[in-house]
Amino acid sequence: MGLKSAWLLVVFLFLGVAVAENVDKLNIWPMPKWVSKGHKRVYLSPDFELDTDGSKYSDGSGILKDGFTRMLDVVKVAHVVDGNLSSVDKSFIIKGIHVVIFSPGDQLQYGVDESYKLLVPSPEMPDHVHLEAQTVYGALHGLQTFSQLCHFNLRTKVIEVPMVPWTIIDQPRFSYRGLLIASGNNSDSCSINKTWRWDVDFPCRRCYKVDKKLLKCKTPVIGLYEFTLLHMQNVLHWHIVDTQSFPLEMPSYPKLWDGAYSVSERYTFSDAAEIVRQVAGQ
Ligand SMILES: *[C@@H]1O[C@H](CO)[C@@H](O)[C@H](O)[C@H]1NC(C)=O
Ligand SMILES: *[C@@H]1O[C@H](CO)[C@@H](O)[C@H](O)[C@H]1NC(C)=O
Ligand SMILES: *[C@@H]1O[C@H](CO)[C@@H](O)[C@H](O)[C@H]1NC(C)=O
Repeated sequence: MGLKSAWLLVVFLFLGVAVAENVDKLNIWPMPKWVSKGHKRVYLSPDFELDTDGSKYSDGSGILKDGFTRMLDVVKVAHVVDGNLSSVDKSFIIKGIHVVIFSPGDQLQYGVDESYKLLVPSPEMPDHVHLEAQTVYGALHGLQTFSQLCHFNLRTKVIEVPMVPWTIIDQPRFSYRGLLIASGNNSDSCSINKTWRWDVDFPCRRCYKVDKKLLKCKTPVIGLYEFTLLHMQNVLHWHIVDTQSFPLEMPSYPKLWDGAYSVSERYTFSDAAEIVRQVAGQ
């Protein structure tokens, strides 16, 4: 091993240790590629807003706007955020997130750039968070990570971001990140459908709501789209047919779904299309 590669190895070992330490303390998941944090604390203004000035992406289909709303919902955990910030120094109040996306398109395909950079607060606009990404999909990951930096304080009733300034530079570690649902060998009737919910147990502090009844759940109960976003996944592998059953309607081979467990245990062509549509977040 040459001197140069030995030196590189030392650097990698060092980085490995630094990241491992962060994993324990930060609870950001999936763990970003690069993180640095400080010791201060800022507070989100009650009318925390989305600002896209200077972005090349126009958000015609509302992907970013919906992602922003979803992020706030996750942070509020269904609380009313009505704390009084009037005694807080203005320089500690964050009014919004400034999202700059460099690519105008939103075509989702394998290999799309999902990297992002998140600065809390923004060095140029200290009363804003700065999030930049090549594509809207990178920005969605950035919002997801930002939601994990925020914390609703039950005593003061405001949302705070501890340990600022944050600098996070990230992109998913693997280009294929999938959820496999193997329903083909499962006699449960329609085990995925529109109301399908996934109970997940993963290292995350917060509780997620889908409807009011589930507010107190410790384990997040979320929809398929939220699930894939939360885990920064980009592939749904639906193992729908198996030796045991063929429950999918095929218009060109209408007898194939006679191989379902029963007449009711079938997916129509449109059911399948709806699930694909949901996972794409449309
Ligand atoms: C917020 O607190 C200040 C004093 O710190 C008080 O004057 C003001 O009335 C409070 N506002 C509300 C809406 O409670
Ligand atoms: C499908 O389920 C049957 C019965 O539960 C089991 O014997 C079989 O191994 C399963 N097949 C696969 C491919 O998982
Ligand atoms: C959807 O799936 C859930 C969970 O498997 C099931 O409880 C529910 O009855 C299904 N709904 C419909 C309309 O099939």
